Amino acid sequence: MNILAFESSCDETAVAVVQDGRKVLSSIVASQTTLHALYGGVVPEIASRQHVECIFSLTEQALAAAGLQKSDIHAVACTAAPGLIGALLVGLNFAKTAAYTLGVPFIPVHHIRGHVASNYLEQPTLEPPFVALVVSGGHSSILHVLDYTTYQTIGVTRDDAAGECFDKVARVLGLGYPGGPLLDKLAVSGNPTAFTLPRSKVDGAPLDMSFSGLKTHVINVIHTASQRGQTLSIPDLAASFSQAVCDTLIPRVLMAAAQTGVSQIVLAGGVAANAWLRKSLQEAITSNYTLYMPSPSLCGDNAAMIGAQGFYEFQSGVKGCLSHNARATCGAHELLCKPI
Ligand code: KG4
Ligand code: ZN
Repeated sequence: MNILAFESSCDETAVAVVQDGRKVLSSIVASQTTLHALYGGVVPEIASRQHVECIFSLTEQALAAAGLQKSDIHAVACTAAPGLIGALLVGLNFAKTAAYTLGVPFIPVHHIRGHVASNYLEQPTLEPPFVALVVSGGHSSILHVLDYTTYQTIGVTRDDAAGECFDKVARVLGLGYPGGPLLDKLAVSGNPTAFTLPRSKVDGAPLDMSFSGLKTHVINVIHTASQRGQTLSIPDLAASFSQAVCDTLIPRVLMAAAQTGVSQIVLAGGVAANAWLRKSLQEAITSNYTLYMPSPSLCGDNAAMIGAQGFYEFQSGVKGCLSHNARATCGAHELLCKPI
């Protein structure tokens, strides 16, 4: 089954063709980061307008790169939630129109489930059940994935997402946008114990996370140094910050794995590309567990992951109607529409 897939929930316009949920026939990602970098973060209206301008030509490119005609497409999948509402609506409406004109089913896909599914594209043997740690610019969640379409959210950030925190710290340091990859590179040559940074806990909810205290603390360190005319070692700060993020995420995902009794742990989302996190997680995993991580190129937003999850949503009976609307917020455990 060839699925034409779309992703436009934030600042990447992406179109892909995926076969049977596992094989990427083509995947095109047009990043808007240079446009938004001028403003230090994503400007929602600019994102929507940019999606409008490029989604058609990217679709033509994705079909050509897959070597397929429109008539070879059996279904259309698209991110329908969560994300920037204007941005989502562009992809969603284009995808529904494509499904309508091609006369094929339309499948709405949850963005976070898509991130998890990016692992299916490279790991032929990976199947649920597993625990997934999804860390991105908008989300930090620990999910118990019971089967391809049955999700339980068992841990979630109570405030900022991990990626948001990376971006904010980088912005205050004047490094640019998006800050995650920049801090990642700097951390390599830094000392993770140079700064003492907080690790927050949420009372009564051991799997939940909080990053706003860490973010505020780091920003205070930067401001205090600047007021005193002191020079900070940015690599040391990047390494200490990365370590604090890992110390928040890793014990929780291990606790979630023990609690649910799974033997597989899956990492996903933009922050999954972070070298410090990947290495720390690999070191922390015991032989009782198998760890799966997408290649860095599949960690960020892309449409191949939406095509992968779309296949399994379709197999479970999900078929969106052509009046399906976008939602800015929605938990990964929620159903976007009822299976038929
Ligand atoms: O999944 P994603 O592309 O978009 C959302 O769904 O939010 O994630 C983007 C986030 C940004 O906050 C970006 O700074 C972060 O992922 N990110 C990283 C790295 N690469 C991307 N954070 C830390 N280290 C990285 N290497
Ligand atoms: Zn994402």
